Amino acid sequence: MSKYLEERVLSVHHWTDTLFSFRTTRDPAFRFRNGEFVMMGIEVEGRPLLRAYSVVSANYEEELEFFSIKVENGPLTSRLQHLKVGDPIIVGKKPTGTLVLDNLMPGKNLYLLGTGTGLAPFMSIIKDPETYERFERVVLVHGCRQVSELAYGETITQDLPNHEFLGEVITAGLIYYPTVTREPFRNRGRITDLITSGKLFEDIGLPPMSVENDRFMLCGSPDMIRDTREMLISGGYVEGNHGEAGHYVIEKAFVEK
Ligand code: A2P
Repeated sequence: MSKYLEERVLSVHHWTDTLFSFRTTRDPAFRFRNGEFVMMGIEVEGRPLLRAYSVVSANYEEELEFFSIKVENGPLTSRLQHLKVGDPIIVGKKPTGTLVLDNLMPGKNLYLLGTGTGLAPFMSIIKDPETYERFERVVLVHGCRQVSELAYGETITQDLPNHEFLGEVITAGLIYYPTVTREPFRNRGRITDLITSGKLFEDIGLPPMSVENDRFMLCGSPDMIRDTREMLISGGYVEGNHGEAGHYVIEKAFVEK
């Protein structure tokens, strides 16, 4: 039996010259936990060319959605960016990943810290009703260089609060904090700096972070992960994984070179 499922592209959305998203059909037998990633790609010269991609859609949705960078000479993304409706896509049958609620100890506030395409797994997590059962407040921080890279901003601020079933819990529980580092915007600066200075907490009206109350999921650039992780470790936070739940979990966002 094949290790892969073949799906079809249903729609493509280009956010910028370097970022795009697309939706595909979903085999009803394909199951995943919100926050997980899967090997995904296309067939090139008869061989599968796959990379790890977080699933943007929630696990109860009928379609799969992915969020990708475009790299001019990237073996996969240079091709993937030209996807058209109807094109075939290959999806691995074994989703996995550490950014799942079960890997976190109970807490009051859940901080989802993502840079660039590191937002992807958090889109799935903020659409999961269980996220709001486990945490009083869910704070989604998305850091990008430019405003145009703040993909899904409208989905988060317009669509989700009006969601048929989840609108109310999302409106009550989700705080969205987009921040930009290289041009003017209402929120500015690196996620790490916003945390260290306390500005993030002031702006959203929550108390300074504490091991007792706060849990973190990190996804994004290796530098952001490294620095944020060091900060958490020095604050006494313990990393979680499949063996043992912790105060925070991390996943590097896929960067194609
Ligand atoms: P900056 O513009 O100051 O480098 P990239 O596009 O390089 O993946 O970066 C995405 C976002 O992550 C940018 O806003 C970038 O800020 C930020 N970033 C890069 N390195 C770090 C880091 N070590 N800690 C926090 N944020 C970072």
